[in-house]
Amino acid sequence: GLGVINIPVYVHVIYSNSNENISDAQINSQISVLNADFNATNNDANGVPSEFAGLVADTDANFTLAGVTRKASSRTEWGTRDDMKFASKGGVDVVNPEGALNIWVCNIGGGILGYAQFPGGASSTDGVVISPQYFGTTGFVSAPFDKGRTATHEVGHYLNLRHIWGDGRCKQDDFVADTPSSDGPNYGCPSYPTVNCRSNDMTMNYMDYTNDACMYMFSTGQKERMRAIFASGGPREGFTL
Ligand code: ARG
Ligand code: ZN
Repeated sequence: GLGVINIPVYVHVIYSNSNENISDAQINSQISVLNADFNATNNDANGVPSEFAGLVADTDANFTLAGVTRKASSRTEWGTRDDMKFASKGGVDVVNPEGALNIWVCNIGGGILGYAQFPGGASSTDGVVISPQYFGTTGFVSAPFDKGRTATHEVGHYLNLRHIWGDGRCKQDDFVADTPSSDGPNYGCPSYPTVNCRSNDMTMNYMDYTNDACMYMFSTGQKERMRAIFASGGPREGFTL
């Protein structure tokens, strides 16, 4: 097997005011959440209902902060067209995408917390983008998205996970067998059981759209889907070479 997969992380902070120039402590708080969530050491994992408790996955991924870039900009909103990923467009160029996760922290705008690129895309835009107020757990953070789960969710996409409802109706799959079928996102903090498509939704999965405090697990099937991309010939094999 692959064993523990080490994921160096470059964080690029692009800011138009001092709040957006988030502290090192805020950045470190996000790295801590990633390590907890991807190793099932998050202290809210005990909230998983017994129906799903046997599926809680330790993905054996270890995140380490490899570097922080800070750049002042007059731009106040960046949208989702990847300008923040290019110095030529006022952003910061990607660093070692074959062997590291790049996270751009800048104000996306439009109510968007974050977005990600799936594996297999262009190297120049590989990574995730998070708005500063939804990054980490301390400093310039905004409830109910102040527990670092936006990055957990977006890194899930970056590691090949789909939303648990498959972005379609009941029969649209997320390509993971142990996440029950659903027909759309759940929001807020749903009570258990929440029934859709004749089964109980795994609303506490990081790949739903619930509040940060109400998502606290990846499943075993999701773990296998994520780890497959690091195998020989996979789109992120560079991390294990
Ligand atoms: N891309 C999603 C959005 O911007 C991320 C949702 C993350 N959810 C969360 N609870 N942090 O809406
Ligand atoms: Zn998503």
